[in-house]
Amino acid sequence: MKPVKSFIEGMPKAELHLHIEGTLEPELMFELALRNRVHLPFDSPDEARRAYAFSDLQSFLDIYYQGSRVLLHDRDFFDLTWAYLRKAKEQNIRHTEVFFDPQAHTARGVPIGAVIEGIHHALANGERELGISSKLILCFLRDLSAEHAIQTLESALPYRDYVAGVGLDSSERGHPPEKFTKVFGRARDEGFFVVAHAGEEGPPEYVWQALDTLGVSRIDHGVRAIEDAALVERLRAERVPLTVCPLSNVKLRVFDSIHQHNLPELLDADLIVTINSDDPAYFGGYINENFIAVQEAFNLTKRELATLARNSFEASFLAEDQRREVLRELDDLSAL
Ligand code: ADE
Ligand code: ZN
Repeated sequence: MKPVKSFIEGMPKAELHLHIEGTLEPELMFELALRNRVHLPFDSPDEARRAYAFSDLQSFLDIYYQGSRVLLHDRDFFDLTWAYLRKAKEQNIRHTEVFFDPQAHTARGVPIGAVIEGIHHALANGERELGISSKLILCFLRDLSAEHAIQTLESALPYRDYVAGVGLDSSERGHPPEKFTKVFGRARDEGFFVVAHAGEEGPPEYVWQALDTLGVSRIDHGVRAIEDAALVERLRAERVPLTVCPLSNVKLRVFDSIHQHNLPELLDADLIVTINSDDPAYFGGYINENFIAVQEAFNLTKRELATLARNSFEASFLAEDQRREVLRELDDLSAL
């Protein structure tokens, strides 16, 4: 019988919670810093890695936005995205839904077109050359104003064909989803699918708001939903997926250790849980390392692992025929 690690590596997977800026490995960060003459506060990639010790979400975001300063031109966004896709191919990711944070770049004078076109061209290459399908999701920074989010959405409309969805990320505490009701309504009217980070550090109330005022079809993280039984019942009954990121939750101290993670409770509650890497260059692992960490911590069976992989395709915005095809492949794998 296949060892469980190779079973994980061999499973076809969809990644649904991945910030492209969070895939910037220190080596590429240094290469781009040199190319673009941007000063970094570290002397080497190893020194940068040693600085990746976080006490909470904000302490991570400070470093993450600082790292993003090396991204200036469409070529930089292309190189960043292409490096991620090559890694995704190695990990047998078949479909990926990629977040990006335009406001982190436009605030530094980078045109939104350079950001979107650079990422899009790499995603299009990924589909053609690596067979990885993808969707691009524009995230609003929730610690900025609702008006700025609307301006950002409007500035992205000329690139409408390249962006499939909108999301909400950055510093959660004190920035409730309801602040963004108007821009999410507008995005839905424009035909974007909508998702939001909620219940990572913020309370269950933020998950309710994401559902009721933003109309999201998926919750990013959502681990704190477990504190509210009525909310868990709502997520279960409406089959709202949660894009859970185990290594991220440990690195950002949402849980003290992987053994304390509430993945088993979420699964016991019959929620549509998926496993994702969030910001893998900063959290020490891509999707397979996240799967391996929870398998080892909770002794998950191959059947449970295959359910998590199935969930990732069911929760995705993949075209129906492609979804069916890959689910059939997963059925065959689980039958072994
Ligand atoms: N931006 C990048 N990673 C994030 C996370 N885990 N939560 C909120 N915003 C983010
Ligand atoms: Zn995230």
